[in-house]
Amino acid sequence: MINIAKPLIGDEEKQAVLEVLDSGILAQGPRVKAFEEAFASMCGVKHAIATTSGTTALHTALLAHGIGAGDEVITSPFTFIASSNSVLYVGARPIFIDIDPETFNINPQFIEAAIKPNTKAIMPVHLFGLSCDMQPILEIAEKHNLVIIEDACQSHGAVYNRRKVGSFGTGTFSLYPTKNMTSAEGGMITTNDDKLAESCRVIRQHGMRRRYYHDELGFNFRMTDVHAAIGLAQLKKLGGFNQKRRENASYLSTHLRGVVTPYIPEGSEHVFHQYTIRVPGGKRDGLMAHLQEKGVGSGVYYPVPIHQQTYYMNELGYKQSLPEAERAANEVLSLPVHPDLSLADLETIVRVVNEYTQA
Ligand SMILES: Cc1ncc(COP(=O)(O)O)c(C=O)c1O
Repeated sequence: MINIAKPLIGDEEKQAVLEVLDSGILAQGPRVKAFEEAFASMCGVKHAIATTSGTTALHTALLAHGIGAGDEVITSPFTFIASSNSVLYVGARPIFIDIDPETFNINPQFIEAAIKPNTKAIMPVHLFGLSCDMQPILEIAEKHNLVIIEDACQSHGAVYNRRKVGSFGTGTFSLYPTKNMTSAEGGMITTNDDKLAESCRVIRQHGMRRRYYHDELGFNFRMTDVHAAIGLAQLKKLGGFNQKRRENASYLSTHLRGVVTPYIPEGSEHVFHQYTIRVPGGKRDGLMAHLQEKGVGSGVYYPVPIHQQTYYMNELGYKQSLPEAERAANEVLSLPVHPDLSLADLETIVRVVNEYTQA
């Protein structure tokens, strides 16, 4: 079976974990600090704050920006549920706008019409490893005095106009095992704002600035040194992993037939967290079944846009129609692109897809 995802854990990660276990400091300690510094440097920002997951990174970032009950956050309906659920956790309401059919990311053209007096933030989600079109988003945010919270959970190291994602607003990353780099579970917040960084650190640690003095409500969202040790070792490999993902994607795009291959806008460096094709004509599920039968893993990210999820419709009253997000949910299929694929694997993927689409 060629798996759709595969975490690549080597001797460096294993050795680093053993060192932590021998060190006597297992919870948040010097490895977390070192990991935060290295991650901030990778993104080209002043601060990185480690958390337990991408979800808690988003939750913390929203709280640190003071977003709460009565506020609205404009975001994508075509993403993992954690993006918009994090908005619900703080008591605010996600406002969904449709996506650009070529990039699968929010279409900046729809943002201004969605802005209301209680809109506080835009949450662009850099889906599948590709940055959103940030220039118009930055301009709109500036004009309307809105915060940008980037969901970069799928886009470690992705570049837009020579800048890394996570450096345009407050960045949030996931370090889940299927991501471009992992700490087993974990998350990271990135920012250039000293005060915001401090606020994130306080929220992460039960609202505590001085030991056992709690001025605000916080959480235990601390990363452990064990996870940070894995993350640090992985971060050193991120550039190589991303390069291999790009090469694999390039091979697939050159050889696949009868499907729409990923679009890479000028000025963007895609890091291919997912290699996501469109299979038009109602053939997506058939192709997926064929791939499964021939030993090639694939995945549908995502089969239901968030505004059509049962909880959002029945409990939260979402009723809108977002045709491009809905069409994408019916047509997308992600194929293996992870760095451990061999040339033989890539040839197999191409052969199996083409024999179905060309039949
Ligand atoms: C776009 C997006 N946002 C948020 C998350 C949440 O990250 P985590 O699973 O680490 O909580 C993920 C992870 O799957 C994601 O893909």
